[in-house]
Amino acid sequence: MASKSVKEKVVCIVGLGYVGQSLAKAFSRHLSTIGFDIDESKVISLNNFQKKFQSTTDEKEIFKADIVIICVPTPITSTNQPDLEPIEKAAISIGRNLKTGAIVVLESTVYPGLTEEVLIPLLEQNSNLICGKDFFVGYSPERINPGDDEHSLDTITKVIAANENNTLETLMEIYSLITTVYRAPSIKVAEAAKVIENIQRDLNIALVNEFAIIFHKLGIDTKEVLEAAQTKWNFLPFVPGLVGGHCIPVDPYYLVERVQRIGYHPQVILAGRAINDSMPAYVADMVLKGLIESGKVVKEAKVLIMGLTYKENVTDIRESPVPYIVKTLKEYSIAKVYGLDPYLNSDIIMKMDVIPYFAESEKVDAVILAVPHKQFKNLKISDFINMMNDPGAFVDVKGIYNSSDFKARGIWYDRV
Ligand SMILES: NC(=O)c1ccc[n+]([C@@H]2O[C@H](COP(=O)([O-])OP(=O)(O)OC[C@H]3O[C@@H](n4cnc5c(N)ncnc54)[C@H](O)[C@@H]3O)[C@@H](O)[C@H]2O)c1
Repeated sequence: MASKSVKEKVVCIVGLGYVGQSLAKAFSRHLSTIGFDIDESKVISLNNFQKKFQSTTDEKEIFKADIVIICVPTPITSTNQPDLEPIEKAAISIGRNLKTGAIVVLESTVYPGLTEEVLIPLLEQNSNLICGKDFFVGYSPERINPGDDEHSLDTITKVIAANENNTLETLMEIYSLITTVYRAPSIKVAEAAKVIENIQRDLNIALVNEFAIIFHKLGIDTKEVLEAAQTKWNFLPFVPGLVGGHCIPVDPYYLVERVQRIGYHPQVILAGRAINDSMPAYVADMVLKGLIESGKVVKEAKVLIMGLTYKENVTDIRESPVPYIVKTLKEYSIAKVYGLDPYLNSDIIMKMDVIPYFAESEKVDAVILAVPHKQFKNLKISDFINMMNDPGAFVDVKGIYNSSDFKARGIWYDRV
């Protein structure tokens, strides 16, 4: 029987979260696409969105696929160890339903070696097929950036790798249907490239956060220093702030764990993590200082946190730094902590251990602009004054306002 042309291939996306949905939408414009997820609500919400797309919770449907693409989460445990359960369970489901000749591609962010050391053995054990003979494997890391309209799946170059040349050619052709592709020399190279992209970002933010801590101690305005330094052509334009989400604060631990297993203890990577993890408490300390310097009684103070998601203009609260700010404020016996976020409903806000804030809520003594969503950017200083009892404290985490404008109105102002 002649082998199928690329246009005839059936794709199955395993894991229909943020990444999986984007891929399902992109592939189903060109190829017959199946979406498999264990979460029924995801499957129901996506069914019939495209003629060529069908979603299911029935793992047997995977058997129809020529290309199976895995987009399941790669979280960490409470002790910062990689939690491979979602990948292992997905591999078992796929193995049980793998068609001879199929290609399995992992897109989840992992440490170098995981595809070959963890995924392939589980696929072989559960399918009784042999990798490289009966089925083939590739790796293509996902780079999409939530809340960023400029860098979407179709505009980002996609790194593609496989453990065998024909598979690599097929994957290059398939992924070329949806975006620009880059041929990586091996699966390990592609896995390592993805994880260091996120580690580099984490460390660059950690470095400017450390600058911010240093300049606060020296009484110098960090924003002004960075603006001056950025006039040099090769000074990187990172800004201090909070680091959240299920990628940047999580992915470094995948590489750390893998290399610790062979006796190397990364120092720079973990130092960056430690600094970024300390920033929520640093912000809470700023508020405390602001309240005291504004003459407020800490035990009676009410604080409003604006922006609760892990970053601007997204609905995702996973690994949001805000609960850590709240925890520290509560340790300081702050009377009440309110939360306001245009992307979240009151139930979710309450789950973050804050009281939902409405226009008619009582006035507060301090405001933390933690995440400057676009809806907040039009607010004027008078809007913040209207939220406050009398001039209180304002912590502008990302430094989007001019400090002098606040100070001129009698408000204590600081930024990270
Ligand atoms: N979200 C991003 O911006 C982004 C960007 C680049 C890379 N990544 C990486 O891509 C991967 C997926 O991220 P995401 O944001 O799409 O995650 P997500 O949590 O939004 O979605 C994961 C989906 O997988 C499903 N799932 C879990 N176990 C499953 C199983 N055994 N079988 C089938 N489905 C299963 C879940 O129900 C969920 O719908 C992660 O490794 C992440 O680090 C994410």
